[in-house]
Amino acid sequence: MLKRISALFLAGAVAMTMAGCGSGGPGGSAPGDGKITMGFSQVGAESGWRTANTKSVQEAAENAGVTLKFSDAQQKQENQIKAIRSYIQQKVDVIAFSPVVESGWDTVLKEAGTAGIPVILTDRAVDSADTTLYRTFLGSDFIEEGRKAGKWLVEEFKDSKDSVNIVELQGTTGSAPANDRKAGFAEVIGADPRFKVIASQTGDFTRAKGKEVMEAFLKSNPDIDVLYAHNDDMGLGAIEAIEGAGKVPGKDIKIITIDAVKDGMQALADGKINYIVECSPLLGPQLMDLAAKVVKGESVPARVVTEETTFTQEQAKEALPSRQY
Ligand code: AHR
Repeated sequence: MLKRISALFLAGAVAMTMAGCGSGGPGGSAPGDGKITMGFSQVGAESGWRTANTKSVQEAAENAGVTLKFSDAQQKQENQIKAIRSYIQQKVDVIAFSPVVESGWDTVLKEAGTAGIPVILTDRAVDSADTTLYRTFLGSDFIEEGRKAGKWLVEEFKDSKDSVNIVELQGTTGSAPANDRKAGFAEVIGADPRFKVIASQTGDFTRAKGKEVMEAFLKSNPDIDVLYAHNDDMGLGAIEAIEGAGKVPGKDIKIITIDAVKDGMQALADGKINYIVECSPLLGPQLMDLAAKVVKGESVPARVVTEETTFTQEQAKEALPSRQY
């Protein structure tokens, strides 16, 4: 499926970039050689989405002739801060990272600013009040993803008078997708008192934790109608738990997930998931374009939002053969 990326200019904010900043020295490109060195701190390898995102960034860097210094933070903020400090020391031309959680970045981002190295946020946001600490933020609208999940649910149960018991598997605590997907979903279902979130807990975006938490949900809640999982992997782990408890996923318990990676789409096509909201991991090419502009001193939009779709079971069957990730 073709992806379109739309640039949103927020509040007239166009981030002006400084020419030549951070270039030269041990880790960066030699002045005038035109090559870019990027330090990239990835969250981890917690999900199929993350694996696809890492591949997209690595392939795009190679295609663009960007020297990529890559580190995997294993879902730990302290590892990301260490990696960013090391990129500053190495004098890379640009730093990009996908922040594991939203808070606690101001100090290290100021250090990058003082060193004159531009920073690009990719995939996830930070909650810093000072938005000049980074040049742009490329990624999905996670609140909208949560709203899309909620809208499907409202439509699905539009003819029912009964209350609907929902359990929620949240992403990593404190991360932008966990905060926003919860908020967007709650905003939509909150208008209708039939919808009750009877349990909500983190599954850390992993299959193993999704299974473990769903097992606990099933033990303490005999009457679950719907599972809302903040990503496919947790949903897939939960399906194992549901089957282990003798219930039929997609029928006894309706399941909504987010991402649309191949394994999730297969489960959707097989009728085990009912609806998936897409979150595209293919951010690499846009990231390299933004990095080239930022390093050259060209202006870039303050926010670049990835445009995404949704999938029903029928749509998943059609999309699966050409699914890239
Ligand atoms: O930040 C994007 C989220 O992180 C994906 O939805 C999830 O699968 C990943 O771990």
